[in-house]
This record gives sequence, C-alpha cells and structure tokens, in this order.
Amino acid sequence: MIDQQTINQIFETADILEVISDFVTLKKSGANYKGLSPFSNEKTPSFMVSPAKGIFKDFSSGKGGNVVGFLMEHEKLSYPEALRYLANKYSIPIEEKELSAEEIQQKNERESLLAVTSFASKYFHDQLESEEGKAIGLSYFRKRGFRDDLLKKFQLGYSPEERTAFTTEAGKNGYKKSYLVKTGLSIERENYMFDRFAGRVIFPIHSLSGNVIGFGGRTLKSDKNIAKYLNSPESDIYHKSRVLYGLFEAKKSIVSKEQCFLVEGYTDVIAMHQAGIENVVASSGTALTTDQIRLIKRFSGNITILYDGDEAGIKASFRGIDMILEEGMNVKVVMLPDGEDPDSFARSHSSSEFLEFIKSSEKDFISFKTQILLVEAQHDPIKRAQLITDIVKSVAVIPDGIMRSVFLKDSSLLLGVEEQILYNEVNKIRRRIQEQKWRREQSGRREYPGRKDWEEQPRTTLPQQPLVPGFVENVFSEIEEREIIYFLLKFGNQLLHLSSEENAEVSVAQYIIREIQNDELEFTNLVYKQIFEDVKDLNERSEPVAERYFVYHDQAGVRELAVDIYTSRYELSKVWKRKEAYVEMPGENLGFEIPKSLLSYKMTVIEKALSHLRKELENIEKNSDVEALNHLIVRIQSLEQVKRELSIGLGGRTIIR
Ligand code: CTP
Ligand code: MN
Repeated sequence: MIDQQTINQIFETADILEVISDFVTLKKSGANYKGLSPFSNEKTPSFMVSPAKGIFKDFSSGKGGNVVGFLMEHEKLSYPEALRYLANKYSIPIEEKELSAEEIQQKNERESLLAVTSFASKYFHDQLESEEGKAIGLSYFRKRGFRDDLLKKFQLGYSPEERTAFTTEAGKNGYKKSYLVKTGLSIERENYMFDRFAGRVIFPIHSLSGNVIGFGGRTLKSDKNIAKYLNSPESDIYHKSRVLYGLFEAKKSIVSKEQCFLVEGYTDVIAMHQAGIENVVASSGTALTTDQIRLIKRFSGNITILYDGDEAGIKASFRGIDMILEEGMNVKVVMLPDGEDPDSFARSHSSSEFLEFIKSSEKDFISFKTQILLVEAQHDPIKRAQLITDIVKSVAVIPDGIMRSVFLKDSSLLLGVEEQILYNEVNKIRRRIQEQKWRREQSGRREYPGRKDWEEQPRTTLPQQPLVPGFVENVFSEIEEREIIYFLLKFGNQLLHLSSEENAEVSVAQYIIREIQNDELEFTNLVYKQIFEDVKDLNERSEPVAERYFVYHDQAGVRELAVDIYTSRYELSKVWKRKEAYVEMPGENLGFEIPKSLLSYKMTVIEKALSHLRKELENIEKNSDVEALNHLIVRIQSLEQVKRELSIGLGGRTIIR
C-alpha cells in the first residue's frame, strides 16, 4: 500500500517526456513531442506526448493516458508496480500506508513465501552447474535440445536426488520450516522433512510481475508408476486456476502480435520461444479456467489453440473454448500433424515454417468443432440433431451480435441447415441466459434512491463495474450523454452567452449542472456519471474543470475518456447529423450548441420513458384496473406536454421550462 501523499509526489515529480523517452525516440513538434508508436508497427509517427498536459496519445492504436498509464501499457505493470518504478527512477522513498495488524501479518506471510520460492528457484538453477546437476539435469535439457539462453530465460533447474538436499540447504539459510511446507517445496512427516522435487528437473512458474510462485518438476525416470510431472500445491501465493505458465515472459509479445498461442505444457512454451515465437502460454496442470482466459484478455482478444492430434483430448477441451467465446474473444484452432506436439514441431521446423503452418491451417473454432463432430454424425440423424444443438450453444454465448451472425452463416453452410432456424435457436438460448442473469442480478441488487417512477430500470442489465466508454450496450442515450460530457470537459470553464438569460455570466459547467439537476436526470453510463459528479464537486469548491484532474483520475475509465476528449480535435456528433460521419465541433457557438445538446438528451429520455409507459398501459388495459389506468394516462399526458415543449426548444428556442 503506497500512501496518497507519496502517490501525489510521484505524479508531481515524474516527467512524462523523460519517462517515455526511455522507451520511444521522440522529436519536438510544436508544443508536443512525436514518435513512432511503440504499440504498433508504423512508419509515420502518430505517437504524441504532451509534457504540458502530462499525457500521451497513440493515434495508431487509440491508447492514451498519463505517465503511469504508459508504463502499465508498455511494460505491462500493475498500477502499484508502475508507481514503484517511478519512485525508484526519481529516488522517492515510498511511505507505505499504515496497515492493520492482520494486513501486516498477511503481507509478511506472502513475502516470506515469495522469499522461499525465490531462494529455491535460484538454488535449483544453480544446481545445473554442480557435478550431479550437470550429469543429469543439464544433460537432459541438452538432449531435449534446449539452448542455454532458454535455460536462463526460464530459470530451469534441477533438484538433487538426495532426498533432503534442498530442505537442508534452505534451513541453513534461515528459511523457516513452516514456509517450506506451505510452499510445498518440502514435505513434512512425523519426525522428518524431505524435498518434494528430489531428482526432478525444475520449471519455475512466474506470476505476472515475475515473482516465482510455484514449480513444476519432471521426473527423469521412465518408471510408469512415478508421476511424470509434479506441481507445487495451492498456497497463499500460488493459485493454479489464476496462473498461466509463460505469461510473464509472453505478455509483451502477446500485445505486439495481438495474438496469444495456447499450448499444453511447459516444454511446448519453451520450445516455441526457442523457435522465436514468444506469444505463447500454457495452462499447465489444470483445465482452462475463466480467470486464466481473462488474464490473456488483458493483453489480447485473440487466442489460437495449438492441438496435437489426439481427438479425445480435443473434444474434452470444447467446454474451455466455449468459455473463451463467452468472454467475447476470438478463438482459432490449429491442428498439428499426427504425432507432433508444439514442442516436437518447433524443434523440427524453423520459426517461419512454424508460423506459415499456423497461418495456413488455422480455423475458427466453430467450423473446427463442426467438422470434428460432423464426421461421426454423418449418417446418424439423432447425432446430427445433437450436433446442431451443440454448435448453436457455442454461438449463443458469443456476446457480439455481428460475430454471432457471421458464425451462423458459416454453420448454416457446414451443417446444411437454414440460417433462420439456427437464428431462432440461438435467440431462444440467449433469452434463457439473459433471464438467468437478470434473476441473479435482481437478487443481488441494491435499491438506488431518486429513481423516477416512469424511468426504465436500466441498472439490472448494466454491468456494475465502471464501463469503458464506447462499449456500452443497450444504453439508449449513450450518444447524447457522451456529447454533454464532451462539452463539460472540453469547455466547462468557458463563459456562456445565452440570449435568453438575464444572468449571462454562467460557465458551461454551471449551466449543464443546473439543467441536468433541474430535471433530475442521471447519466446511465457510469463513467459519464462519475465525471458529472466530479465536475459538480469541483464547481461547489469553485475549482476549475482541470484537464489534469481528469487525466490523472483514479478510475481508469475516466482517465481514458478524458484523454480521448482532450486529444481529439473532432468529436463524433451523431446527435446533429446522424447521417454524416464526422462533424467538427469547435465550440464556436456554445450558447447554441450546448442548449441544443441538452434538449436532445432530454428528448431521448422522455421518448424512452413514454414508450415504457405505453407498454405498461397495454398491460394494465388488459387487467382493467381503472385507478392505475388513470394514473398512467395522466403521466403520459404530462410527458407528452413536456415533449411538445422540448420539440419547440429543439426547433430554435434555447431554454425550456
Ligand atoms: N504435462 C503435465 N503432467 C503430465 C504430463 C504432461 O503437466 N503428467 C504437461 C507438461 O507441462 C508437459 C506437457 O504436458 O510439458 C507435454 O506432455 P508430455 O509430452 O507428456 O511431456 P514431455 O516432458 O514432453 O515428455 P516426453 O519427453 O515424453 O514427450
Ligand atoms: Mn512431449
């Protein structure tokens, strides 16, 4: 825990130009600096740094943010890691926030466990230079064809045959028994302790930030009764289901290649690195989990699974692939030639041959699955029906509608079933999923005050987390809300000259706040809502709407949107010219544009409310509940009245009441 004061100091000290210059060559260009994007392969520079604003913006990938955001993105650091990096660079001592006794104990415990695993990893690696290690461990790796640089990169090692060698050495170095046992490195019996991995070659497993958190050990004996691979047990630092082998070493490459290969095990990962393919991970020791999929998603939305040709194994993995689809990611599948795994294939082919093979044989998952299952369903109508249901289920979990329809088209061809029939099936399943989700959220949701009785209840279908701007599904007023936020951030401090107002001295922020509050409106997009609340607070404290405030906001969604708005000269204005693409919004006539924008927003809200009430009316008419009916009709009439007034406003008047 780094305390807030230190965080502030880091932000004040860190010079974004200096920090980024360590990674990107920048040239001055006006008030800004320009360079080649470190996030894409470009020939003309579109990466900008603004030292005055303290932000960067990469126009080729759309990424942008403050100095910490850059480190997180480029170096794949977590937020605290990036802060520590800067503290270290600028020699700022880190004041840790005071922790509770329990927190201290937990932290100490974790750190002690990490100290043990780090010691062990070094010990095992060093063993490759001992007599025994050279003769057994090192010679095994050499036989497998692993180069020395790979042994070093993955910190591969060897645990001596003698069953207490490691435990004794760790004890001599002062590591407590209890930590040796908790990390699973030593196994405790009534009156003695011994090494878990004795006589095995060692594959250390790294966390995302590069700490050793566990180990895999391969036996060198061919005895069938001995487990070929042993893994560390679960511990406070090692949760199998949340770790991917090789991700630490792969993350940069996954980002730059915009793709992640998924393989079975340690040796596949290493052999592929050796062949020059570094964007590869393995879910060693478990079936693929949703947590693991989300880990990959932080770096890329594209997964390509490499299979060796064992059909039973492939079928067993189908559930895992549906989970990837559910996360909205693209899944491709590559089938290796009979008898080859990625390890053997990488060893017998050059990197370019391997990549060429992948390119020419990769298939999207849906058609891959269909083909595999079609073979056995060919002449069996019952199996065929099952197959169709099965494929439809896979398609139904895909969140993106366009992707679903693309896959349905393909499946319809492959299966010889009409597209419309598949559509209906998919929609049926999706409705069921939605209902289940809705019910789950209903049971867990809190009431939120101030909701108007006619307002649709959007919270039940919206994610609870801050939303990423631009990715809001089903929000009817998304465009209008965004435009208002654009005005707030970009022109919040400017004075507005309203022809219709006696009191002409009002800032854009004040005007918008007043208009929104008077009508008790609330933004649906949680990022917009947060920004609005913050502008309100700033205004109450008579502080300006400062770029830095939002660009350095503690919520990522707010930071991203602010950077986007502050770096864009043109803003999409779909409200005014829905048909035309980009419209310049220079803010030349704010006194006209802003009231119009607000009116348009209110109009959308009212129309939505009206359609909701009308639907309700239909239902109530059936039950002939006269009182409720009258109440509804009154509501509808008064809203219609407001709507008429709004329409007049949209036609030219600036102020409505
Ligand atoms: N694996 C595992 N547990 C096992 C077997 C395999 O975790 N009991 C994983 C390992 O990560 C390994 C990968 O699956 O890297 C490939 O398995 P396999 O080919 O059997 O292991 P190798 O060490 O390559 O053995 P061999 O030399 O016999 O090919
Ligand atoms: Mn193998």
